[in-house]
Amino acid sequence: MAKVKTTFFCQNCGTQYAKWQGQCNACKEWNTIVEEVIQKPEKNDWKTPTTTIKKASVPLRIKDIDVSKEPRLDTYDGEFNRVLGGGIVPGSLTLLGGEPGIGKSTLLLQISLKLPYKTLYVSGEESQKQIKMRAERVNPNNNNCYILTETKTQNIFKQIEALEPDIVVIDSIQTLHSDYIESSSGSISQIKECTTELIKFAKETATPVLLIGHITKDGHIAGPKILEHMVDTVLQFEGDRNHVFRILRAHKNRFGSTNELGIYEMQGSGLREVTNPSEILISKKDEELSGNAIAATLEGMRPLMIEVQALVSTAVYGTPQRSATGFNAKRLNMLLAVLEKRAGFRLGAKDVFLNITGGITVDDPAIDLAVVASILSSNEDTALQKGFCFAAEVGLSGEIRPVQRIEQRILEAEKLGFSSIFVSKYNKISLKNTVIKIQLISKIEDLVDILI
Ligand code: TYD
Ligand code: MG
Repeated sequence: MAKVKTTFFCQNCGTQYAKWQGQCNACKEWNTIVEEVIQKPEKNDWKTPTTTIKKASVPLRIKDIDVSKEPRLDTYDGEFNRVLGGGIVPGSLTLLGGEPGIGKSTLLLQISLKLPYKTLYVSGEESQKQIKMRAERVNPNNNNCYILTETKTQNIFKQIEALEPDIVVIDSIQTLHSDYIESSSGSISQIKECTTELIKFAKETATPVLLIGHITKDGHIAGPKILEHMVDTVLQFEGDRNHVFRILRAHKNRFGSTNELGIYEMQGSGLREVTNPSEILISKKDEELSGNAIAATLEGMRPLMIEVQALVSTAVYGTPQRSATGFNAKRLNMLLAVLEKRAGFRLGAKDVFLNITGGITVDDPAIDLAVVASILSSNEDTALQKGFCFAAEVGLSGEIRPVQRIEQRILEAEKLGFSSIFVSKYNKISLKNTVIKIQLISKIEDLVDILI
C-alpha cells in the first residue's frame, strides 16, 4: 500500500501548499486552504497507456498542415451551433456553466434528445426517473439517448466502452469522483483528476464531451480556474431566473469566436430557440406611452432591438433615487448629469427609474441615446413618435458619439419596420437606398429640439 499523501489546496484558486496556513499567498483569501488526501496508485483509467501506443509528433511546416476539413457534429440546435462556431468539434471538451435552476440540465438533455447520434447522458444529480420525467416534457421520442446515473469515473468509462457513444454529456463535473483520489467530490483535486481523465478519453477516441459546471456565488465556475484552462470551450448560460429569456455565450472557444450568442426562451416544454429576438423584446402595443424608447443594440455580432423604459417623478425624499435594471447605474447618473448641464433639465429633484425590458442586461454604449430619449419622454410625459429608434453613445460634453457596426443596426431597424433611426453625425454610413430615415445628430441639444 502506497503511503497516504496529503496536500493542502486553496479552494478559491487551486494553489497547492505543503502545509496548512490561514491565508492563501496567491489569491489572498482567508480560510480557504483545505487538506485533501491524494493517493496515486498505478493508474488504470481510460484504457491503460500500454494499449495505446502514442504516436510521436513530428514538426511540420505550417503550410503543410492539413486543415482542409475540420468535421463538426451538428447539434440540431441553431443557437447552440452558432455559439460553438458551427457545431461540436470531435474530441473537444465543452464546459457549460450557469446559476442553479437556469436550465443547464434542460438545455443539454434537450440537445441530447434531438441528436440522431448515440448519446450518453451521465447524471450524478438526478435519478433516471427524474430525467425521464424531464425528457417527457421536452421530447419523449428518441431512441439514441442513453441515461446513466453514476458518479464514479471508472464506472462511467466501463459503460462508455460497452456502449461506444458518439457524444457524452456529464451533469455535472462537481459530482464526479475518481478512485485514484480520496478527497470528496467537488474538491479541487477531484475536479482536476476527473477532468484529466475525461480529456484523455475525449482526445483518444475523438468523442466530444459536454460538461455541466456549477458556479460559485460570485459567478465563477466552482473549482479551480484550471478547469477553464483545461477544456476547449467554456459556455455560460445566463439570464434572470424570473424572466423567460436565457442567453448562451462563449467565454472561451478554441474553435470559434466568442462574440456569438444564442437566445432561448424557457417554456413549459423546455427551451425554445429564439431566432428573431427583436420581435419579442419589443412590446407591441397600440397606445403610445411616455418613457419608452427603442435602442438598436448589438449582442455579440447580432443586432437586437430592445426597449428602454424610464420613469421620472418628483422625489418624495430629500435625496432623489436613481435605480436601473439591466443598465449600469453609474452610467445612468452620468447621462443624467449630462442632461442637466447640457440640456438644462432640472432632474436633480426627480427620482429616475430605468428598466431594460425582457430581463436582459446590456452594456453596449450605443443604448445611451435611447436612455436619454426615454428619460426626456417620461419627464415631459409625452410619448416619442412611433417608429423612432436610437443608436449612439453620449459623451460627457453632450456630444453624440459614433458606435461600431452602425450599418448592421440600421438594417435591423429597417427590417423591423422602424421609420427613423437617430445616429451620430460622425458615423460613416455608406448605405444606399434605405427606406428608413437616418437622422444624423451631433449634440444632445439637437435631440431635445427634435423630440420636444
Ligand atoms: P434545470 O435545467 O434543472 O436547471 P439547472 O440544471 O441549470 O440547475 O431547470 C431549470 C428550471 O427550468 C426548472 O426550475 C424548471 C424549469 N423548466 C421549465 O420551465 N420548463 C421545462 O420544460 C423544464 C424541463 C424546466
Ligand atoms: Mg441541473
